[in-house]
Amino acid sequence: MSDDPRDNDPNKTAPIADPTAGDVNAPSSVEDAERKLQEAAKSGTNLDTLVGRLVVEQGLATSDEVKHCLELRRQSDEDESNRSLMALLVERDYVTKRQLTRLREILEAERQGQKIPGYKILGELGAGAMAKVYKAKQLSLNREVAIKILPKKYSQNAQFIERFYAEGRAAAQLNHPNIVQAFDVGNTGDTYFFVMEYVAGRTVHDDIQEHKRYPEKEAVNIIIQVAEALEHAHAKGLIHRDVKPKNVMITREGVVKLADMGLARAVTDLEAAEAEKGKAFGTPYYISPEQIRGEMNIGPPADIYSLGATLYHMVTGSVPYEGKNPSAVMHKHLKGELVPPDHVNPKLSPGISEVIEMMMARSSRKRYQTATDLLVDLRALKKGEQPPIAHKEVLAADDLASLAAAEAAAQSEGIPEDATEGSGRAISDILLSPPYMILMALLVISVILNIFLALYSR
Ligand SMILES: Nc1ncnc2c1ncn2[C@@H]1O[C@H](COP(=O)(O)OP(=O)(O)OP(=O)(O)O)[C@@H](O)[C@H]1O
Ligand SMILES: [Mg+2]
Repeated sequence: MSDDPRDNDPNKTAPIADPTAGDVNAPSSVEDAERKLQEAAKSGTNLDTLVGRLVVEQGLATSDEVKHCLELRRQSDEDESNRSLMALLVERDYVTKRQLTRLREILEAERQGQKIPGYKILGELGAGAMAKVYKAKQLSLNREVAIKILPKKYSQNAQFIERFYAEGRAAAQLNHPNIVQAFDVGNTGDTYFFVMEYVAGRTVHDDIQEHKRYPEKEAVNIIIQVAEALEHAHAKGLIHRDVKPKNVMITREGVVKLADMGLARAVTDLEAAEAEKGKAFGTPYYISPEQIRGEMNIGPPADIYSLGATLYHMVTGSVPYEGKNPSAVMHKHLKGELVPPDHVNPKLSPGISEVIEMMMARSSRKRYQTATDLLVDLRALKKGEQPPIAHKEVLAADDLASLAAAEAAAQSEGIPEDATEGSGRAISDILLSPPYMILMALLVISVILNIFLALYSR
């Protein structure tokens, strides 16, 4: 077991994000922003030159406005001439403090060699365990995109690089309104990046953090859209492998988009290869048992399990299995008893509980085998009807359970007191039956005849 502190957060795929990542708070003062910017820049860089270039590049101010500020400083008295270009830009409202934070992020990205030809980085969108995601402009098409930039460590691994391109190509074949569209994969030097549709909105994870629980109807509507995305991907032979609330985005118009299609495989396989033998990856709260076991054959039911765990979290406000670290959570996915969702939230309909329990069946054979089947039940739930597939399973399970209970009762009671009586009655029934009596009569007659014959023959 590694002693990496990242191993202690079951919500993460592997390493947790850099604590400073995603810091969108505006600096408390211009001096603070200057200090941070200088830290982000290469040492010895002239801050004014840097600020001047960045604000123009980012379209925050024109080069004339920058020149104007520099001119003002030259003309001003001794005190004023000590003031930085940044302070003057803020004072004249060309740049806000919040925009200065963005400049720092951009500078950091550039410093890490994340200048991607053909794209202009506009700011950071978020950071996950493996990578940072930036908003950018694709210059050729003048459109906004999101770019996921992977850490340089991946560039050392030939298997990862091969898979990264293969999965990127596969993901680019997908075209579905509920899948974040993959546009491009590439590398610049040893930095690998994935360009995708920019989704202005939030993730289901953000919502859970904020409101805790989703109303059943809303959750079903969201999950239907994800299931439709999976149906499309599975039909093209692509398994997501990392379905979870953080990868389900919702646009401002309420359209659901499944993110990171095609990325999980490239990354988790690399991690799995690098990890100690037998150590499974994937976000433990939502990972399927077969992924934990490191099985080779990961099919659609694995995504269905993770989607079930996501739905469980959405409607109950709790993850299906909680534990003090990832391995404790994973152990429960393999061996723990799932608390039925309607026991956690009694307001849930029995139907949705049946569906979730079938999605999360421990054995992949007992789950929905396809997203198409799952959609049959989800659409029934949406109409307020009983989910036909899951309900049938429950009935069959009930029958089996009552049969098993009857057998168990028979065994535990041992030989019933009236059993001998019962069998005695059965024997007397046989003794009194007409064929038996005729047979007995014939036997008696034959014995008597034989005795007579024996006596007369002497
Ligand atoms: N296409 C996109 N459009 C807009 N924002 C995005 C897009 N993709 C990702 N993001 C934002 O970037 C954040 C980081 O995404 P990333 O996929 O790196 O990590 P994650 O899925 O949140 O978590 P983890 O790395 O633990 O799996 C997301 O939480 C989301 O807010
Ligand atoms: Mg993601």
